[in-house]
Amino acid sequence: MISKTVQKFNKTLKVDGDKSISIRWLLLASQAIGVSKATNLLGSEDVFSAIECLKKLGVQINFNNNNCIIYGRGINGFKFKKNITLNAGNSGTVGRLILPLLIRSPYKIRIIGDKSLSKRDFSRVINPLNEIGAKFYPKNRGRLPISIIGSDYLRPISYYEKRGSAQCKTCVMLASLNTPGEMRIFAKKSRNHTELMFKELKIPIKIKNKKNFNIIKTSRPTKLSKFNLNIPGDISSASFFIALTLLSKKSQLRLKNINLNPSRLGILKILNKMGANIKLKNIKTFKGERRGDIFVKSDKELKAINCPSSLNSSAIDEFLIIFLIAARSKGVSYFKDLSELNKKESPRLKLGSKILNMIGIKTKLTRNSIKIYGQPNISLSKKYEVKNYLKDHRIMAMCTIAALTFGGNWKIYDPESINTSFPSFLKILNESFKIKI
Ligand code: S3P
Repeated sequence: MISKTVQKFNKTLKVDGDKSISIRWLLLASQAIGVSKATNLLGSEDVFSAIECLKKLGVQINFNNNNCIIYGRGINGFKFKKNITLNAGNSGTVGRLILPLLIRSPYKIRIIGDKSLSKRDFSRVINPLNEIGAKFYPKNRGRLPISIIGSDYLRPISYYEKRGSAQCKTCVMLASLNTPGEMRIFAKKSRNHTELMFKELKIPIKIKNKKNFNIIKTSRPTKLSKFNLNIPGDISSASFFIALTLLSKKSQLRLKNINLNPSRLGILKILNKMGANIKLKNIKTFKGERRGDIFVKSDKELKAINCPSSLNSSAIDEFLIIFLIAARSKGVSYFKDLSELNKKESPRLKLGSKILNMIGIKTKLTRNSIKIYGQPNISLSKKYEVKNYLKDHRIMAMCTIAALTFGGNWKIYDPESINTSFPSFLKILNESFKIKI
């Protein structure tokens, strides 16, 4: 139960390690020869799902206090056995990115996931992997549970990625580790952590940057060497505390050592356009990825935005919290071309709108867009219940921030759902803001 708002504050915080980079490091380090180490690896349910899948494939992994050691088995070095079932849990990234590492498996491997993941589209990765030569059963299913069987006769493809999905792009890139010849990917712009890791690892990759898309060509390396990584903070987790600051009066926050990869900064561009005071400092590049500190101040009233859809992919996981900020801004905000948002852990465009309506914010919702009629003076006093949200971690965090800034008495069910991506969320609220949930 949350029934009080946070008072003005001036704080410095750290958030957990980046989820996309943590999962990519695990998957690629499992294919390297030798022992790789990571520090500040995210210790969340999604990452544990990746670790458990890899362990079932014979990879030895020790995880302790966000330090991780992985004994890589080399490309296609998994111990394939009969009757393996891999559980991707809640994670689309794990479910979709483990598949390309299985395309030479001589046995069928079954992939399962939780209730939310079992509703999500897998045809988007099954189709290109099929064309490369892997087979899936049952045929034409397109969802989990599904079984994959590999082949020794794989071929490179030309792949058109039109959704702006980094998972789809990465799936085909990872398939090239096992495929002879050159994979050609024409990809709408999306987060580029995989490209940066490929470069760091000297996996053959050529990238041509075009205005709206990239042409990426990758091919099989002869071997992959072990690699150590320190993982920066996750901007998707940081965004909830950025929002907490902007929606609290006279407050300021410094978030330290956050990943500032430009392909992830959509939220900062959107908030700056809305008039937010956000600055980046101490920027450095480490192993290809930019990182630094984020400074946020809540000194101005924010204004509505007509959000350019070119920013959608770089803010895709932050829209729920952006919608909440739009609800407190002056004017009508408009977000469009967002049908992908309904294909996440929950139908976020629909549920985001429903939650705003519950607290008295008018919205106009379509299949792929939302208009939000902001109320700069919103202040709540009624009771609100949040349940049946498919335990979507970002819905949980959005509603927590709403409760802590807009007022009212909130009962949010399944608060542990946040452990999917941001296990320190409740601890930070407790220790730094004296809020117990
Ligand atoms: C991710 C890509 C995004 C994002 C997800 C993580 C990744 O998904 O929503 O949380 O690590 O590549 P899509 O590629 O489906 O847009």
